[in-house]
Amino acid sequence: MSKRYVVQDGDEVLRKTCRPVKVFGSELNALLNDMKETVRAENGAGLAAPQIGVDLRAVVIDVEEGFYELINPVILSVKGEQKGPEGCLSVKGKQGTVRRPYKVKAEYFDRNGKKHKLTAEGFFARAVCHELDHLDGILYIDKADEVYDLPAED
Ligand code: NI
Repeated sequence: MSKRYVVQDGDEVLRKTCRPVKVFGSELNALLNDMKETVRAENGAGLAAPQIGVDLRAVVIDVEEGFYELINPVILSVKGEQKGPEGCLSVKGKQGTVRRPYKVKAEYFDRNGKKHKLTAEGFFARAVCHELDHLDGILYIDKADEVYDLPAED
């Protein structure tokens, strides 16, 4: 496993519609392992493959509810609304206020090609929506009510 460079807003890979994963195996496993190491090293809640320069439909999410690897994820239904702060490892130094569904149901494949469903609420739901947007070339700053600078880190 190795930590990968996180591409920043302005890089065209972040604006691509990513390709479905068709081959499950060692290459996908290596990608997911690198994504896990990268999201943890960066203290992120999630990371999508295009953020490390790979235009495939794969994301990792690291939240209180657990660590998830979502391959070819699809949102099945959404319910309610939440409005709150959001950031992105590809938009360093900024945060924005974004409206998201409060609850989402999604289906996805795991790294072994097995299909699963999940139900997410609150911050977990926000993370799922944010990461899945990345797979269609959408950044939170595209839909934020406001975007503001965070205080500089030491
Ligand atoms: Ni992001």
